[in-house]
Amino acid sequence: MSNQRHTVDRARVLGRLDEISRIGALENGGVCRLALAPEETQARARLIGWAQDLGCVVFADAIGNLFLRFGDAGSKEPPVLVGSHLDTQPVGGNFDGVLGVIAALECVEILAAQSDRAFGPVEIAIWCNEEGARFSPTTMGAAVHAGHFPLAAALATTDAGGQSVTASLQQAMTSLCAAGISPAPRDLAANYKAYVELHIEQGPVLEKEGCAIGIVTDIQGLVQYKVEVLGTAGHAGAVPMEGREDALTRARALLADIDKTLAAFEGLRFTVGRLDVAPGSINTIPARAEFTLDVRHPEASILARAAEQIELLCAGAQLTRLIHQTPVPFDKRVATAIESATRRLGLSSRRIVSGATHDAAHVAALCPAGMIFVPCRGGISHNENEYCAPEHVIQGTQVLADTVMALAERRVQ
Ligand code: HGY
Ligand code: MN
Ligand code: MN
Repeated sequence: MSNQRHTVDRARVLGRLDEISRIGALENGGVCRLALAPEETQARARLIGWAQDLGCVVFADAIGNLFLRFGDAGSKEPPVLVGSHLDTQPVGGNFDGVLGVIAALECVEILAAQSDRAFGPVEIAIWCNEEGARFSPTTMGAAVHAGHFPLAAALATTDAGGQSVTASLQQAMTSLCAAGISPAPRDLAANYKAYVELHIEQGPVLEKEGCAIGIVTDIQGLVQYKVEVLGTAGHAGAVPMEGREDALTRARALLADIDKTLAAFEGLRFTVGRLDVAPGSINTIPARAEFTLDVRHPEASILARAAEQIELLCAGAQLTRLIHQTPVPFDKRVATAIESATRRLGLSSRRIVSGATHDAAHVAALCPAGMIFVPCRGGISHNENEYCAPEHVIQGTQVLADTVMALAERRVQ
């Protein structure tokens, strides 16, 4: 029976994932819950409801990160933190982020069912704006919480429609309040005992190797830019080709140089995720072209050299660096706790470097942090077809729960 109390409730976990996937559901099976948009707030409220049923107390920091505390609400004892994010890409999948939050809730369900062991406080973290799709940069909430991004700059950030984080945060908190949820304040850079996050790998390695669990050792480095190239609007047919100042022609030439230069860096991954042209009329020469660059590498020095080359090539354009994050090594003690849980459960595992960045990259500056990966079909993510098989969802959740219990257990002296 006691073993039963430690075991993940499959129906509850899969049922909750299914319920959240209906909030912001798109017609082709994907989901859109942009940071601080009503859909994300609705999902947050649902999570809080489940957590409050377990006796959790809700805290929020100044950038909208949520902390749902189980146990010793009144004490200042640093908790074991476990969580992820509920915001998604504009055309996102149903596991990126939400898997880690539902699994964190399941950890608390299991803790609540324990009677024969003593645990210190555990908190579910729901980070704000991990994706950075609506408000740049990615992992904004966790970066502000860890002191890696200024709060004022984050609050002043606006989305494509000109709405600021401040205004969106106010709307989101007002909606939570209307739902009867008034979080207590949480300081930035608060004290935590450890942090663990469950996430899909978002790449093909685990599936290819038939491995159930990835024990994440590091997160690779990342630098993101916005590049604006200017020209002069004019009549597409009347202005002679020589002498016309076509912003998009200039941007394409610059992108060709960037492609060629970055291709020389072994192991570098980069993409142009967004390209906007103005005024965007079929018969007007573009006056403005703006594109983004997302560049990643596991070696800090190589990433720095690539960034240097980009900044040289873009000297004639308006370049804005959105984030430059060096590779983050995770704490070996957390990796060992994850590995022991994986072994006890008889699951195959391998160490792995994360290709994506995560909130854990910042939390690692506040406390020992680690991540658990599970395979996703075809390594597909940031895509409506993102899929994680139920057995991987449950295995990952069980490893997370056993790891959190091992980290939070109060050893009898
Ligand atoms: O950009 C990232 O790696 C994350 O998915 N937001
Ligand atoms: Mn994610
Ligand atoms: Mn993501």
